[in-house]
Amino acid sequence: MSVFNPYLLMSLFYFSIAIVATLGSALVSADFVASVGNLRWLRVHFITLGMLTQAVLGVLPGLVAARAGNRTPRTRWDIWLVYNAGLLGLLVGIPLINEPMMIAGGTLVMIAVALVAWQLRGLKAAGSSGPAQSPGGSSGWFYRVALGYLLLGSFIGTGLWLGWGNWLHLPAPKEVHVHSNLWGFAALLLAGFLLELVPGRDLRQPGWQRSVKAVFWLMVLGALGLAAGPWIENTTIETVGLVAHTVGTVWLLVRWARAQRQRASCALPGALHLVTSYFWLLVAVAMAPLIVFTPARDIAQQIAQQGGPILIYGWLLQFSYGLIPYLFRRSLLPGEPPRLGGNWLSLVAGHLGTGLYIAGLFAVELRPVLHAAGYTLWALSALPIVIDLWQVLRAAQDDIGQRLGEQLGSVP
Ligand code: HEM
Repeated sequence: MSVFNPYLLMSLFYFSIAIVATLGSALVSADFVASVGNLRWLRVHFITLGMLTQAVLGVLPGLVAARAGNRTPRTRWDIWLVYNAGLLGLLVGIPLINEPMMIAGGTLVMIAVALVAWQLRGLKAAGSSGPAQSPGGSSGWFYRVALGYLLLGSFIGTGLWLGWGNWLHLPAPKEVHVHSNLWGFAALLLAGFLLELVPGRDLRQPGWQRSVKAVFWLMVLGALGLAAGPWIENTTIETVGLVAHTVGTVWLLVRWARAQRQRASCALPGALHLVTSYFWLLVAVAMAPLIVFTPARDIAQQIAQQGGPILIYGWLLQFSYGLIPYLFRRSLLPGEPPRLGGNWLSLVAGHLGTGLYIAGLFAVELRPVLHAAGYTLWALSALPIVIDLWQVLRAAQDDIGQRLGEQLGSVP
């Protein structure tokens, strides 16, 4: 892969800002400072759009090309520019609720995502025509459909405060946005990355091929039910979608964990970050019936409204702690074997933070202190990862400097 990857630099930049925003949330929860305008939106999207999507758009072409046995394609600076201009537009436009900025930002982000999806299509391994027909095709299909859900989620998200919900006959646009982005985009993407860590020769075994195909369809159709259910106000479709998606996810996780256990190279606590992050996704899923059937409407409403951080910090961020350092090493230090990120501090602090945050949803009187502690632990858990990423960046810079020096030295 290319040694300099501007997406990764920006991803680290937004990750660092996300930690500051998380600490800000701790201060707001503890009532030390007043709530700053739409810190909540910024906090969530620094992580989802700034850190995760940014890194993913930068590395997907290289990953798909590598699986297909092709050379890493050149960095597309044009797409990088379009994406980051769009992101900046949203970061300004959404907190200020400025319509032209929101539309311009959302449109540019969608154009960048569509361009990367188009690029992946061109890189598709010759002859792969389904999710399980070739190992390269398998994770590649997960990525492509994930980007499709990201386009849908971004479209709905851009219109959330512009009243597009009425034109589209969408009674619950925020739910469709969240379901499409989390169960469609993020879940399929992370499943693709899990497959990336399974050796190609294993994936070619008939047992794996059958599982991958089943998991793919369960997750894709499940996400469709979760996005379509609230759109057409059909809870049966939504529930069937949720069940199918969850079965697919658990199936993949069990297979993946078993395969990793047999490999001596399985790195704890990086692998634990990936697998245990799904515990919080399952907790959020298990809370759905509680929200619907609990007699305490007040608590149910609070959980429904404040459940977002459980998925963002508990699931996506915990998974990213293992994933993002892996992508950095693979991309920026091609001479070294890549390894998953995370250590025991990030693992324990991350999970403890999520546990305290959830406890705060139920213990109403202790909520400020529990949420403040939760946000502080989340910020603490991110520190070793950010330090690790800056070190990788520095090592890559030294590497480039050394190679340049060698080249200049060899010029007569
Ligand atoms: C163009 C891209 C996007 C736009 C314009 C956008 C816009 C929005 C808006 C306007 C809200 C409502 C905030 C509120 O009601 O307080 C929201 C919420 C949310 N978005 Fe996005 N979003 C985008 C991408 C994403 C992505 C990629 C993800 C996840 C991978 C995501 C996850 C969420 C979540 C979880 C919430 C709920 C947050 C909460 O309840 O605290 N969004 N988004």
